[in-house]
Amino acid sequence: MSETANQPTDPQAPPKPAASGAAATSEPTLYGGVRSRRVTVRDLQAAKERGERWGMLTSYDMLSAQIFDEAGIPVLLVGDSAGNNVLGYETTVPVQLEELLPLTRAVVGASKRAMVVGDLPFGSYQASPEQAFMSALRLIKEGGAHAVKLEGGRRVVPQVELLANSGMAVMGHIGLTPQSVHGIGGFRVQGRGEDAGEQVLADALALQQAGAFAVVLELVPATLAERVSRELTIPTIGIGAGAGCDAQVLVWTDMAGLNAGPGPRFVKRYADLRGTLSAAAAEYAEDVRTGRYPSAEHSYT
Ligand code: KIV
Repeated sequence: MSETANQPTDPQAPPKPAASGAAATSEPTLYGGVRSRRVTVRDLQAAKERGERWGMLTSYDMLSAQIFDEAGIPVLLVGDSAGNNVLGYETTVPVQLEELLPLTRAVVGASKRAMVVGDLPFGSYQASPEQAFMSALRLIKEGGAHAVKLEGGRRVVPQVELLANSGMAVMGHIGLTPQSVHGIGGFRVQGRGEDAGEQVLADALALQQAGAFAVVLELVPATLAERVSRELTIPTIGIGAGAGCDAQVLVWTDMAGLNAGPGPRFVKRYADLRGTLSAAAAEYAEDVRTGRYPSAEHSYT
C-alpha cells in the first residue's frame, strides 16, 4: 500500500476529470512514454488522486506483453484467465501456480514500463496466510511479478495483511470472483440490492485496511462500483462494473476479438483478431495448395 492509501476521502470532492482531460495536462502521467522506469503503486495512487484513469490488460506471453507495454498499458495482469484463454480449461478453477510461473516470467521479461501483476490461482492461498505467502513468494521470486492479486474480501484479510506487511504489493479482487464460480452457482452479477451492496463495500474497505494497493471490482452494478470507488482511497479497477471506477481491466483476447463470439455485455472488442487470423490461415493454406507460396521471393538461390 502507498503511504497515502488510507487517508479519508472527502465526500464533497469534485467529480473526477475525464481521462482525456487529465492526460492533456503537462503533469507526468502514466501514459505518454515519458517514464523510463516501471510503473509503481505510488504512480497508481497518484493517478487516483488526480483523477487520471488507466486501463489494465491481461497478458500471458512475450509478444502481447511487448505490444501492450509499447502501447502504454501501465499494468499487465498475468491472470488465471490464462486457464480459459491459453491452457484450454473451461474455467480458471484448475489453474496451477506452476502453470502461471513461466507465463509471468515471459510477461516480465518482455515489458519495460508496465507493472506486472501475478494472479494467485485457486487453492494457492485460501488455506492460510502462510500458504498465501509461499505462493506469492514464488510468483515474485520465480516469476518476477511486481505485485500479486488474490480473490475474496474479508475472508482473505489475514492473507492480505501478511503479504502487505511482508513488503509485497497486493491487489484485491471482489464482486464476482471466478475461482468461486461453483460456490456462487454461475457467473452472476454480485452486489445487487442494498444488503449485497453493503457487503461488497465492506469487503473493499477491509482489503484497503489490510494493505491492498488496489481492488478489482468484477461484475457489480455501476452505481455500487462508483460508490466503492468514492469511498476507497486506493484505486478501484472495474471489469463489468461501469464507468465510475478509477481504472478498467479487460482480458486481452476479449478486447482484441480473438475469442469466439461477442462475449459478455461489458466487453468492447477493439479489433477482430480472430477474423484476421482465420483469413490469414485460410489464405496461407490456399497459397500452399495452389503453389503460390513459396514464390521466388521467399526462396534462396
Ligand atoms: O484472471 C483474470 O484475467 C482476472 C481479471 C478478469 C481481473 O482476474
